[in-house]
Amino acid sequence: MIFTVAIDGPAAAGKGTISRAVAERFGFRHLDTGLLYRVVGVLGGDPVAAARGLGPEDLTRSDLRTLEAGQAASRVAVIPEVRAALVDFQRRFARADGGAVLDGRDIGTVICPEAEVKLYITASAEVRAHRRWLEVGGDAAQVLAELRERDARDMGRADAPLRAAPDAVVIDTSDLGIDEAVARACNLVAAKLVRRP
Ligand code: DC
Repeated sequence: MIFTVAIDGPAAAGKGTISRAVAERFGFRHLDTGLLYRVVGVLGGDPVAAARGLGPEDLTRSDLRTLEAGQAASRVAVIPEVRAALVDFQRRFARADGGAVLDGRDIGTVICPEAEVKLYITASAEVRAHRRWLEVGGDAAQVLAELRERDARDMGRADAPLRAAPDAVVIDTSDLGIDEAVARACNLVAAKLVRRP
């Protein structure tokens, strides 16, 4: 069975948690596509060469979840050649047999416009920054400033900017518990699976 769930949205909106829960509930594979850009960002050197040489083992590095890695990822993600080098891997993952959940910024718009389910997970910048701050600590105002900076870069770039696909269902998690957000996402997937020919 080929079935793709595309989950896009800005940092700390809840995409990761929802993606993992949907994948587990339906037995689908899951790819956090942000990790691809994070690896390219932390490797340093020529980002295009790093993207072309990237292997699955790179995704298990322990230094990918930091705020610095997120900023570095966002900076290399504006380079069209970096994005192009990562497309095939993501498309193959999305359309391989067995069902897949991919989360990122351009899954429903560029990587897999034919995805059976498209979700756009969002929340206010303040709520997202507060969540991030609870994880990483430090200066709350700086966490908010960096998050806004990353939003602006991800949404403003020329190639594959972050935006909701026209046919995506938007879930705003600003005032929604995680269980409720996961339930909504799972209901949408279940409804689509039932209606398959
Ligand atoms: O989802 P994340 O925070 O791990 O993503 C890190 C950065 O990678 C994000 O700020 C922009 C970039 N990214 C992207 O451009 N396209 C994707 N599909 C996923 C991430």
